[in-house]
Amino acid sequence: MDRQATPLVGFGAGKVILLGEHSVVYGHPALAGPLSYGVTARAVKSKRCQLTLPSTLSRPQRALLTGAFQRAARLCGSPGVRVGLESELPLSMGLGSSAALSVACTRLLLKAAGRRDSAREVARVALEMEKEFHGTPSGVDHTTSAEERLILYKRTPGESSGKAKAVKSPRPLKVLVALVGERSPTKKTVAALRERQARWPARYGRLFQQIGTVASEGAKAVEAGELEALGDAMNVNQGLLAALGLSSPPLEDMVYRLRGLGALGAKLTGAGGDGGAVIGLFLEPEPAVAKLLQLGVRCFSSQLAGPRAL
Ligand code: MEV
Repeated sequence: MDRQATPLVGFGAGKVILLGEHSVVYGHPALAGPLSYGVTARAVKSKRCQLTLPSTLSRPQRALLTGAFQRAARLCGSPGVRVGLESELPLSMGLGSSAALSVACTRLLLKAAGRRDSAREVARVALEMEKEFHGTPSGVDHTTSAEERLILYKRTPGESSGKAKAVKSPRPLKVLVALVGERSPTKKTVAALRERQARWPARYGRLFQQIGTVASEGAKAVEAGELEALGDAMNVNQGLLAALGLSSPPLEDMVYRLRGLGALGAKLTGAGGDGGAVIGLFLEPEPAVAKLLQLGVRCFSSQLAGPRAL
């Protein structure tokens, strides 16, 4: 079904960062693509513009979500709809669940208000929700979700937005996403890295620069259909993330498991730290997915770009 066909439905894709998390905060490019999974917002007409939330959520969670929703609603002229959410994404795993939620709500609100829902406008409004969740993110998460295609993203200095360049892949670009476990909030991991960077700016600056170069090289490899070169860039990026203090034994263990299962490259994705998700680039991820599921690893595959089988 075309998720965008019904006027009172909005979809926001989750995302994976193939190359360049963290250094993107410091103005270097990152290569990121949308997952086939995400958050769907559905609405019925109503007198007031409101968000319905499950009663299982805590009071602070409800307050946060309602506040973020109302911020976007005001920007869209508060159309008369009651909105409910369904998520296919695991939360707090580095897969952009809050950005997906922001994009899903924004798409729906813009449509309900009869406004243009171009990727640019969706990103502009969704950012206001993201700010409630994350303070000052680089903007890569919600931009990837709003663009719904593989992009090379570069943050505008001091802003939570930036420039997104579409990266075309002549070959199917498929990843296996393995969930490694609970992790500290992104805000905390980003703040701890900022402290190290402020203490030793030259050393950390060199590592960020290196990651940015690897991300640009990876984007070129994608466009040239050189998936082995992309995989190598991912492996090098993982080494640089470890040098920045962003990896941990459970993440490293999964990286080596995916490489052992034939991944062309594997690395953590998102904020990293003590847990989260690991991605592996595979020509055909299904056999590895089946094997890991059998062993009790939570994982799935997704195609990020390139031609799709009919
Ligand atoms: C989080 O998905 C990506 C980070 O680079 C933070 C950000 O870009 O705001 C860790």
